[in-house]
Amino acid sequence: MAAMTTESPASTTGPAPALPDHEIPTIEVGPLRELQLSRLQATVRHAHDNVPHYRAALQDNGVHPDDVRSLDDLARLPFTTKADLRANYPFGMFAVPRERIVRLHASSGTTGRPTVVGYTASDIDTWADLMARSIRLAGGHPGDIVHVAYGYGLFTGGLGAHYGVERLGATVVPVSGGMTERQVQLITDFGPRVIMVTPSYFLSLLDGMERAGIDPATTSLKVGIFGAEPWTEAMRQEIEGRTGMDAVDIYGLSEVMGPGVAMEAATTKDGLHLWEDHFYPEVIDPVTEEVLPDGELGELVLTSLTKQAMPVLRYRTRDLTRLLPGTAVPSMRRMQKITGRTDDMMIIRGVNVFPTQIEEHVLAEPRLSPYFQCVLTQPGRMVELTVLVEPLEQLDAGAADAIARELERAVKTHVGTTCRVQVRDPGTIERSIGKARRIVDERPKN
Ligand code: DLL
Repeated sequence: MAAMTTESPASTTGPAPALPDHEIPTIEVGPLRELQLSRLQATVRHAHDNVPHYRAALQDNGVHPDDVRSLDDLARLPFTTKADLRANYPFGMFAVPRERIVRLHASSGTTGRPTVVGYTASDIDTWADLMARSIRLAGGHPGDIVHVAYGYGLFTGGLGAHYGVERLGATVVPVSGGMTERQVQLITDFGPRVIMVTPSYFLSLLDGMERAGIDPATTSLKVGIFGAEPWTEAMRQEIEGRTGMDAVDIYGLSEVMGPGVAMEAATTKDGLHLWEDHFYPEVIDPVTEEVLPDGELGELVLTSLTKQAMPVLRYRTRDLTRLLPGTAVPSMRRMQKITGRTDDMMIIRGVNVFPTQIEEHVLAEPRLSPYFQCVLTQPGRMVELTVLVEPLEQLDAGAADAIARELERAVKTHVGTTCRVQVRDPGTIERSIGKARRIVDERPKN
């Protein structure tokens, strides 16, 4: 069946956008909704005609592509989950013959099979455009030097950023993650204006600068494009305070494309604009699966509107956020900074807790470093949370104890849960070169 696929015209149907795709769109809401509908119709047809999984799932829901007559009909389509991608491992979700796939990426499955994603040449082209406009919205310009410290490889961060920088007409420094001292040297020698990196690895780079005797506030860096993991307003303050940079948030996920699904504007720093001409967002109640009105907190669900190799219908991201009206890009909705993933929600004595809530309180104590981990144990029937933190400088036992008790009190008051805080020695909490591991689950398995 896949061999009979048509050249999917999804990216070329509908009214032509006024600007090239690598520019920040100025389309108004009315034409945007028309564009979304025609692209949604083409995507549903493409998925139905070329991916057995989608044909079966649509049939099970009693929907045919011809039934999609308005954007409201999206709610009739089946959800897609990571489990569906795993069940069709490796290439079963592809809607074009394998020979037309020019790139594969995979997300590191912590358990079981990884999730494999594929791109046609035109998907790579669209991705480069969306990354280029994302970098523009962050305050990057053609001609800038951009240091890319997201990992290169099966992870989408490095190569996704890379193609976007080139598309923008800037100079990419493809460093990837790791080898902190060398990164610091390259930043000093090449003078990049923009850096793209996970916020947690950026903290390690800042420490590396300080070890090399460089004041982070004096480097050439002016813009940081941070994503791939949740980070808080408190972390923004910390990074901007230490560097004088604009720290902005970028969101994406491999299953839907990679980085560049949504981007925060440096001018407003008020959440991330979803590139709605290419992805249609919904927020649902993760338990009832009901679509929630804009403004309510729930799980983000994304439908691709132009992808050819691997269209996704109503992909359940497991990321928790809310949709807000557009600001810097008026017609495109924003999503609030992500609170966390449903998978990372810790339930401590009935209270739901995310690592981001702990982060805010760790960062509020100026004597603590921004590194922390949440360790879950279950000595008896109850789950217990221990928060590991470290001071910037060695403290005497009395001072460490006072900080621990104060943090426990703040978490109890503001987050509503009891935890134990342990102040470790400086420099002993795990550092990451990519996504930080915030939760260490030491509960007995089964
Ligand atoms: O992390 C893509 C990416 C690379 C995004 C570089 C931004 C920058 P995955 O490895 O598939 O893809 O992981 C996707 O990471 O579902 C979120 O849970 C989390 N995530 C990504 N960006 C953010 C963000 C890349 N800005 C998963 N804030 C997503 C919070 C994020 N979480």
